[in-house]
Amino acid sequence: MFIKHLMFALSAWFATGVLAQAVPSLYQGADLKLGEQLIADNQCDACHIRNVGGDGKAIYRPNGRVNSLGLLRGQVEACNTTLNLGFFPEEVTSVAAVLNRDFYRFK
Ligand code: HEC
Repeated sequence: MFIKHLMFALSAWFATGVLAQAVPSLYQGADLKLGEQLIADNQCDACHIRNVGGDGKAIYRPNGRVNSLGLLRGQVEACNTTLNLGFFPEEVTSVAAVLNRDFYRFK
């Protein structure tokens, strides 16, 4: 019984820790699963591969022009507008949050 409680407490603590780290407060409400799905569904990689080769991930440059959470979200919004993807604001935020978790790691 005690062990069960301890496990629960630990996993809850772990989950909040991971979440707090994965989604910065500026991106509050971001849905990482949704973001991953949107990135997969909208050929982000396919087009980036045409630009940078490899698996396309090299287009994400944390030390480049996009160097803050705000600019990252802005770039995703710009792609959304240019490509006419029709993302809702919370979808833009979710995509930016996934890119930040995987590549940019801005705080
Ligand atoms: C039709 C081609 C195309 C598609 C589709 C596309 N992108 Fe891009 N993306 C580009 C190009 C070209 C750049 C480089 C722009 C520059 O640096 O001037 C870019 C740059 C970016 C950057 C900035 C990278 C950096 O660190 O400077 C982000 C973020 C990004 N794209 C996100 C996305 C996301 C998310 C999607 C899918 C929803 C997407 N893009 C779909 C062409 C595309």
